Amino acid sequence: STAKGFDMNIHAQYSSFAEALAPFLDEKKQWQAGPLVAHDPLLPSEASSASTHQVTSPYDHRKVVGQVLWTDTATATAAVDTAELAFKAWYMRPIEERAALLDRCGETLETHMPELAALCIREAGKQLNDAIADVREAIDFCHYYADQARQQFGKPMELPGTTGETNTLAAEGRGIFVAISPWNFPVAIFTGQVMAALVAGNTVLAKPAEQTSLCAYRIAQLMHEVGVPLEVLQLLPGDGAELGKHLLSDPRISGVVFTGSNPASVAINRTLAARDDAPLPVLIAETGGLNAMLVDATALPEQVIRDVVESAFQSAGQRCSALRILYVQEDIADGVMEALKGAMDELKIGDPAQRSTDVGPVIDEEAREGLQEYIDKCRAEGCILHETQVPDEWATNGSFVAPTAIRLSGIEALDGEHFGPILHVATYKAADADKVIDAINARRYGLTFGLHSRNQQFTDHVMQRVRVGNVYINRNIIGAVVGSQPFGGQGLSGTGPKAGGPHYLQRFVTEKTRTINT
Ligand code: SER
Repeated sequence: STAKGFDMNIHAQYSSFAEALAPFLDEKKQWQAGPLVAHDPLLPSEASSASTHQVTSPYDHRKVVGQVLWTDTATATAAVDTAELAFKAWYMRPIEERAALLDRCGETLETHMPELAALCIREAGKQLNDAIADVREAIDFCHYYADQARQQFGKPMELPGTTGETNTLAAEGRGIFVAISPWNFPVAIFTGQVMAALVAGNTVLAKPAEQTSLCAYRIAQLMHEVGVPLEVLQLLPGDGAELGKHLLSDPRISGVVFTGSNPASVAINRTLAARDDAPLPVLIAETGGLNAMLVDATALPEQVIRDVVESAFQSAGQRCSALRILYVQEDIADGVMEALKGAMDELKIGDPAQRSTDVGPVIDEEAREGLQEYIDKCRAEGCILHETQVPDEWATNGSFVAPTAIRLSGIEALDGEHFGPILHVATYKAADADKVIDAINARRYGLTFGLHSRNQQFTDHVMQRVRVGNVYINRNIIGAVVGSQPFGGQGLSGTGPKAGGPHYLQRFVTEKTRTINT
């Protein structure tokens, strides 16, 4: 089943889910994390960077979730030594053995769904439905990449040859992959990156986002329990700027799979490029977006409002796919704005552990302050169209940002990606639709795009003209489903290949042509 299918059948599949979840939501339950490495952990020296960090919940900073020991650089270097040695055996293991391991990882994530969903809520502040979908997507990645590996690498591809000669093309792991995952999908993206690299025959050093090290640690532990060798998957929680840079400077790293901001991907690329005597590595980067949606006069208004609200405000707007700017054809703009304001007033903001909550917190205070500063600037300029109030009880102790709609002339005026529940709204004249698409393309991001229109000719034309990775017609623009909607962007939004798509694993392998004179 898929993440979407699961969402719709949540009651049927998990009738006792709330009961199973409760002990993990209990404040007395705390998690601990630190480096998961194959060598004896090195004791942090005074000069080292290892230190312990307390994790608190984004929705209430008084609530402690656990503690994380960050990895020091000496431990990280020792982990690279281990991964290098382990690779020599790992890439030669049969595909079926590695694929079966992925299936077992998927099964254990399923068994631990309540714990992982609760951890996701408490550490990342994800709303319950989002947390479940995050774990569900991780499970989908495990089984999907297992199947893809069997299909694509199960046996070498046969190629033509002259008489007396056989030619085949085989795939094998590239070496050590560093997997750098984000906090907004602490289960799915962490798992997807690691699974893809492992099944393709690489050893992995996983460096999760600082904010969600506990989720990553628990998942890595479960993977080890079902048989992923510790020396093949090591976890290095720590600071991206310091630990990440140290790791990526090592000439033995063959590839990096990264999801995060565009500036971080540029910094990674620079560090990799500065290495001497190192093979040119593969960099798979999935970055941000300035995602737009166009609504023309033929669109169905109720559907538009539902899809706009979900796209902009679900997950508190903290998805790289989230809607950042809505273009409404001016003939229908007044009606759409009225309905949008009404729908925003209906949003329930607060406890992410409740199914009925629509918008939870943003990830931390730093994020909240940045978003709030931007909203305040727009307020001073008189551009706020509408705001939903955050109830006082949540505003006091948590990192909440009010879902906000802001008037904008067009995407060219957008000063960057505001990664939160902020929606910009512009209007356009029907005759200017191509200009709008060209302005979207000119920003050089290209992740998601939505169109609401019943005009088939216009739809075909826009789908062809817009330069993005995922186009959605007459629906929301979030929640790509593994195997059905391969996800990833163009230009500044990423390198591809698309996660959850049939070409993803190909970037994790190197090819060997085998010619035998018979
Ligand atoms: N894959 C997610 C989505 O489609 C975004 O990160 O919403």
